[in-house]
Amino acid sequence: MPGREHWGSRLGFIAAAIGSAVGLGNVWRFPYEAASHGGSAFLLADFVAVLLIGLPAMLAEFTMGRRTHRNVVDAFGAGGRAWKAAGALAAVTSFWVVAYYSVVGGWVMRYLFESPTGAYFARPAAHFEAAAAGADALFYGALFLLVTVGIVAFGIERGIELATKIMVPAIVLLMVALALYAGTLPGAAAGYRYFLEPDFQYLFSNLDTLIPAAVGEVLFTLSLGSGIMITYASYVEDSESLVTDGIAIVVVNTLVGYLAGLIVFPLLFAQGVRPGEAGAGAIFVSIANAFRTLPAGEALGVVFYLVVLIAAVSSSISLLEIPTAYFVDNYPVRRPVVAGVLGVAAFLLGVPTALNTATLELFDSVASEVLLPSGIFLVTVFVGWNYGREAMAELGEGLHERFLPRYWLWHVRIVVLLAVGMTLIISVSSFIDANVVQSLW
Ligand code: TRP
Repeated sequence: MPGREHWGSRLGFIAAAIGSAVGLGNVWRFPYEAASHGGSAFLLADFVAVLLIGLPAMLAEFTMGRRTHRNVVDAFGAGGRAWKAAGALAAVTSFWVVAYYSVVGGWVMRYLFESPTGAYFARPAAHFEAAAAGADALFYGALFLLVTVGIVAFGIERGIELATKIMVPAIVLLMVALALYAGTLPGAAAGYRYFLEPDFQYLFSNLDTLIPAAVGEVLFTLSLGSGIMITYASYVEDSESLVTDGIAIVVVNTLVGYLAGLIVFPLLFAQGVRPGEAGAGAIFVSIANAFRTLPAGEALGVVFYLVVLIAAVSSSISLLEIPTAYFVDNYPVRRPVVAGVLGVAAFLLGVPTALNTATLELFDSVASEVLLPSGIFLVTVFVGWNYGREAMAELGEGLHERFLPRYWLWHVRIVVLLAVGMTLIISVSSFIDANVVQSLW
C-alpha cells in the first residue's frame, strides 16, 4: 500500500531530525547555559530566538535540502563554485562539534556505568570534577566516539529510527517525573523563581552576552548551521509539508530543554548550589544528588543516563555523518574507512577538551557563537536571496495554500539575516577581546 509507505517515511524523517536535535544540547547544554546567563533572562532570550531565528532557519535548511536533493556541500554548490566553500565550512563545523561532543557523551557513559553502584552519590561535585577532565575523560570520550563511528560505519538507519521512536517518549516521561519530584523539594520555589520569573534588569544590562549565548544555544540544540537538516530534508518527498514537520521538531526539542531547566534549577537550589557556580557540571551534580536521596536511586540512574546516552548518540551520529557523507559521495573510499579515519581525527582534536573543562567550554562557544551562526548566515543569504521565490514555492509543496506563511521569505531575508549578522558581530568582537588580546598581552 503506497499510502502507508509514504507515511512511514515521513515519520522516519521526523524521527531522524528529532534524533539529531534532541541530545546533550537540551539535557546538558541548555540548563548549563541558562545557569551561566541569569536563568529566566536566558529562558526569555532563548524563547525569542527559537521563534525569530530557530524555526524560520530550520525551514530554510529544509527547503534547501529538498529542492536540491543533495548533501550539504553540493546543495550549496548548486549556487556556483564559491558557494561550495560555504558547504565545506558546514562540514568542518560538524567535525569540530563532534570532537568535544563525544567528551561530554563520555561523561554520560561513565555515569551510566557508575549508576548501579551509586559511585557518584557520596560527593557529587568532587566526583564530577574528577570525571570531567583527565585520562578517564579521554577514555570514555574515545568509547563514545567508537560507538558513534560503529553506527555511522554500518549505517543502521532503521536502528536510528527505532531508537528515536522509543527514546523521545522515554526521555519526556522520565524528565516529567524528575521535574515533578524536584518540585517537592524544599528550596524548589527559589529555583523556579530563578528560572521562570522574568528578570528584565538582568536581560537588558547583559544583552551583549545573552544574545550570542541564546542564539548559539538555539542553533546548537536544533542542529542548525552545519547542514544536518539540509541533508535530512534531501530525502523528503515533495508531498510532505515541511512547515508542519518543522513545527513538530521545534516544539518537541524546545520542550525537552525547558524540562531540563525545570529539573536542574529546583535541584540546585534545594542543594544550596548557586547556579552560576554549577558550570558544565550542572546536570551531573544536581541529578546525582537527587538520585542519592531517592529510593532505588541506582536503578533510576541507570535508566536516566541510558536514555540521555541514546539521545546523545543519535545526535553524534548525525554530526559525524555530514563529513562522512561528503567523502563517500565524492571520493572512491569506503564508508567504514572514512568513518574510522574521521573518528580518530575527531578524537585527536578533542584531546585538549578532555584534559581541561575550560578548553571544552571554549570549543563549545567557538562552535555555537561563531561557526554555527556563520553557517546559518550563509544559509540565509543563499535561501533568501539566491533561491528567493523558488524557496517559497518549495515551502508551499505539500501544504494547503491557506496555511502557507507568506511572510516567511521576507522574514528570512531581513529578520534572520540581521539577527544572525548582529550575533556574529557581537560574538566575534568579544572573542577577539577576551582571547586574542589577552593571550597577546
Ligand atoms: N542538536 C544536538 C543536541 O542538542 C547536537 C547536534 C547535532 C548539533 N547535530 C548538530 C549541534 C549540528 C550543532 C550542529 O545535542
